[in-house]
Amino acid sequence: MENGILKLDSKEGKKLGFTSNKFYPHSYLWIKGDTIFISFIASKKEGKGYFIRLLKKIEKVFSKIIVPTPTNRMTKILRKRGFVLTNLHNGDDCFKAMTKGLVVQNDEIQENGIGFLETVDLP
Ligand SMILES: CC(C)(COP(=O)(O)OP(=O)(O)OC[C@H]1O[C@@H](n2cnc3c(N)ncnc32)[C@H](O)[C@@H]1OP(=O)(O)O)[C@@H](O)C(=O)NCCC(=O)NCCS
Repeated sequence: MENGILKLDSKEGKKLGFTSNKFYPHSYLWIKGDTIFISFIASKKEGKGYFIRLLKKIEKVFSKIIVPTPTNRMTKILRKRGFVLTNLHNGDDCFKAMTKGLVVQNDEIQENGIGFLETVDLP
């Protein structure tokens, strides 16, 4: 898949089930190599498996998944599926993300252009 924003209802989006009948328009996916960012995603009907089905397809294609500034609900859903809460540093910015498949090594992280990572101990 091409780098950049993957829009709802795009050809590639449809392959993943990322469609406007399931998700609100401010939801977006952003691809960089084997990494995908899932941002501001919101299901039109919660608890029907829309997000889980999308995630399962994403996991088949991308080895690294980042969900920046997750809500509590999102954190709970992802924790059950092997994601860890991670601090992402980008210059002076620092934000939390639920991540899967990231390796905390400086050279790899710089290659991804997202600063360095640090896994946070969960309560
Ligand atoms: C967080 C959010 C995106 C999750 O999407 P969702 O479509 O409701 O999530 P799903 O229905 O796929 O999964 C929720 C639960 O339903 C279960 N589920 C229900 N029907 C299912 C089905 N048919 N197949 C698989 N799982 C199903 C899932 O296993 C999951 O279980 P869990 O709560 O025990 O983890 C959604 O709650 C939402 O839009 N929230 C408001 C906005 C928000 O917080 N966005 C997050 C931004 S980071």
